[in-house]
Amino acid sequence: MAGHGNTDSPMMTLSEMAVDVLTTADGRDKTAKSHAHAAAWRASRAAGTPIPLGSATPPLRPSRPDRPELLDPRNVPKRKPGSPAGRIALLHAVAHIELNAVDLHWDIIARFTDVPFPPGFYDDWVRAADEESKHFNLMCDCLEELGSHYGALPAHAGMWRAAEDTVDDLMGRLAVVPMVLEARGLDVTPGMITLFRKAGVDSAVAALETIYAEEVGHVAYGSKWFNFLCGRHELDPRDVFHDLVRNYFHGALKPPFNEEKRAEAGLPPDFYWPLAEEVGRG
Ligand SMILES: [Fe+2]
Ligand SMILES: [Fe+2]
Repeated sequence: MAGHGNTDSPMMTLSEMAVDVLTTADGRDKTAKSHAHAAAWRASRAAGTPIPLGSATPPLRPSRPDRPELLDPRNVPKRKPGSPAGRIALLHAVAHIELNAVDLHWDIIARFTDVPFPPGFYDDWVRAADEESKHFNLMCDCLEELGSHYGALPAHAGMWRAAEDTVDDLMGRLAVVPMVLEARGLDVTPGMITLFRKAGVDSAVAALETIYAEEVGHVAYGSKWFNFLCGRHELDPRDVFHDLVRNYFHGALKPPFNEEKRAEAGLPPDFYWPLAEEVGRG
């Protein structure tokens, strides 16, 4: 991608870019900034003059548009997945997850600047944020093609809870966000692709296939940097993972697991099987 379309970008540090995304409410605006800042970061790395990380204070909660209305998951109306309305609801739910993921990846960049990392850490999360921005826009395009839009339906409140719970625990953040929540996406996305293929919604099939392929990378980044930190502190990654998930994750890990894609992402079975259906709901 040439240029970054934002003349402010070269003046900002990477953490300031992250906060710029986090404090932008509109989804299309947020993702446009995310793409622009990611391109600026990549260009600076390619030129051998990386944008400095700097430091900035990310908001406890990112800015979001007035719509969708955010409801307790129990109050979000359930629709039959096989119906046109059900398919729109499913795409809407994925769009909401993707927008949240954009903020999650920029947040991890700005939140933990006191922990030293090789530049590859920032390459990975900038790339993940860039890809989530694409995923959100793909879902918005599919919704619009079906006569709806992001914001037309209520969405789950509490999606940011994992970020707030791990606001001062980077290893907890890595364990819960990429290695539990995004890994869950690998388990459920193939079924969604089948559903849209049966319904003949080709745009959604193509978009979900892109998401499915790229999410493996996000889980892999989580696993890589989790293991890196365990190595730095001479900790056993599996035991630490179990402790952190039990501490921060509110819900059970639900089989069936996509063992093939989880393995591709560096997540071995002895990480997740012992937590299946075991973690209390709360
Ligand atoms: Fe995504
Ligand atoms: Fe992701």
